[in-house]
Amino acid sequence: MASISRREFLSLAAALGASAAWGCLRPRPSRVTWTERRDLYPEGVASGDPSADGVVLWTRRPGGDGRPIPLTLEVAEDPAFARVVATARAVAAPENDWTVRVLVGRLGPGRELWYRFTDPGGAGSRVGRTITAPADDDPRAVRFAFVSCQDPTIGAMNAWRRMMYEDERAAPDERLAFVLHLGDFVYEVVNYPEDLPRGYLDRTVREVVRYPRGQKIRDFHVPVDLDDYRALYRAYLHDPDLQDARARWPFVCMWDNHEFSWNGWQSLQNFGAGNVPAQTRKVAANQAWWEYQPARVASPNGSLDAFRAPPVADAPIEHFDAHGLGQEPNNLAAVGSLTAYRALRFGRHLDLLVTDQHSYRSEEPTGRPEAGGLGSREFPNFMPQEAMEILDAGRAFDGGRPPATIRFGDGEVPNFRRDEPPQTVLGAAQKQWFLERLRGSRATWKVWGNSQGVLDFRADPQHLPPGLTSRPWPGAGYAGFGGGDHSSAYVERAEIYDVVARERITGFACVSGDRHSFWAGLMAKALPPAAFEPVGVALITGSISAAGLVEAFEHRFPKQHPLRALFLADRPGAPRPEPTVNMLLRHGVRSCLEYAASGDRARARALSDPDNAPHLAFVDMGGHGYATVRASGEAIESEFVCIPRPVTRSETSDGGPLRYRVRHSAALWKPGERPALAQQVVEGDPGLGA
Ligand SMILES: [Fe+2]
Repeated sequence: MASISRREFLSLAAALGASAAWGCLRPRPSRVTWTERRDLYPEGVASGDPSADGVVLWTRRPGGDGRPIPLTLEVAEDPAFARVVATARAVAAPENDWTVRVLVGRLGPGRELWYRFTDPGGAGSRVGRTITAPADDDPRAVRFAFVSCQDPTIGAMNAWRRMMYEDERAAPDERLAFVLHLGDFVYEVVNYPEDLPRGYLDRTVREVVRYPRGQKIRDFHVPVDLDDYRALYRAYLHDPDLQDARARWPFVCMWDNHEFSWNGWQSLQNFGAGNVPAQTRKVAANQAWWEYQPARVASPNGSLDAFRAPPVADAPIEHFDAHGLGQEPNNLAAVGSLTAYRALRFGRHLDLLVTDQHSYRSEEPTGRPEAGGLGSREFPNFMPQEAMEILDAGRAFDGGRPPATIRFGDGEVPNFRRDEPPQTVLGAAQKQWFLERLRGSRATWKVWGNSQGVLDFRADPQHLPPGLTSRPWPGAGYAGFGGGDHSSAYVERAEIYDVVARERITGFACVSGDRHSFWAGLMAKALPPAAFEPVGVALITGSISAAGLVEAFEHRFPKQHPLRALFLADRPGAPRPEPTVNMLLRHGVRSCLEYAASGDRARARALSDPDNAPHLAFVDMGGHGYATVRASGEAIESEFVCIPRPVTRSETSDGGPLRYRVRHSAALWKPGERPALAQQVVEGDPGLGA
């Protein structure tokens, strides 16, 4: 983008549905009379998708009488606007729910800048800060944060406050260049306080949003149209910590599932009673995302002033192509209404490739009702890995010879996937784009922003001592925890990792959210007894505030269950059980049984199954907070900044105490070498996680 012409720039802005501003060479003092009126810009300001030349700037200025409001945008080198380097006009109009996007170009690389919007009466937005990306040849390290899963209805945004506190005190070279938000920016599944009068797990349900229309399903509500989705974003952006964070850093955003629908895939929804076509809701979700997230993502027809939603109807989706994409025209129009996967470059060392895990994916096989016979209450959370592999590969299993049934103990479950194509998370077109970008990248680190984790979740119930359960584990060996992401999209991840290995691509790393837990490890297509051949580094951040598995286990795991020790260890007098699930995922069942009985970590680890998880360095299924990455010419370093369960808002400027800070680092490996992770506990105690 550094050498883009003015004409190219204007057509780019038009394609993004943004107004355009062109930076000037000579700074001059502001000529705008500006009085801050945050009440008139209730969702604040934001910036997004920085390049080495520019950035997208955003605000919302609702008008009382329905008439569009012309706004003046100013961008300056200083927060007092004595050195303004760009100005632009933009219009807040009801068609966009009064949101405004401006693409500002020719700002120069690696610059810290301030911006504000002002209406004709002089009423101004708060002042935002942003940063353009470093030039492509800039040799300095780049630092960024990655986050996911913020739910203000049940949790506090203390992690944002902590991130701002630390960044304000960091040396200028160590400050965050941007925030990568990997989704669940909003949760479309909303409990109103009266739905759960006794709360949810450890949480009290707060009144944050009421849908103008909404649909009630069991004890929750979901959005049904554009006004509902817009109401959700507005409500979330009224959180002061989230709003301050958006005003401090440029964001790079990708949705996860909840921006559209909990169990959604393509334009289908599933609330437990089968797939329901929801093309109109998918378009509404995309439009609200486009209006509220400042991103270099084109509106459906390149309109400058509005999203112009394609007309769609909710029609059954019955025919899927060889890559699992539903061919029903309304489905294609709905998922095609926004293409959000994209690449961003930050200096010499970082290419960020951000992918969409929901719009093109095939149906997740282990969650289908036909897979119900592959689990058992006696072995909670476990599904035989061999069954997951058969279901993932479909008709391609075993070189095209899939079995007719899948054995589970004494029973045989029909292989309902034997005539279907292998599972895809990315879909064919996006996968091709991703592999081309990966092959073509010249940056030291190729970081895959994949909202969902890629690291296998598994345990070794085949090693349970006899007599603990009424029958032995019904699977043949290891057990997975179910599917949905690249931890069990075995065929697709092998295709990607084989390209990395064959083409000797180094510096491959993946950052994810979604799991509401912190994980560090290595990407590999297979685990023992198959050959373990890592090709990259994977890091997963805990949630900002949404509840995780450990909290759910504490409330719901039966006290008398014979396998409780694999998930929780009860200690007399302790306020909470210890999360042995963190030990299970790395060391296996024998370590957990020993630890629950003796409380002796060393003895427990001596019983570790080294084949269970050679890919994992760290797992904390109970951690919340955020993670950072520092990418340099020599190494990639990541910090997990873990806070206590964010049940209530912290009253202090630091966002409250830390539980721990753990650093993982990997030196850049040479072609043909294996990546390796080193771990350092910097502060606090991660317990059984480290
Ligand atoms: Fe989430």
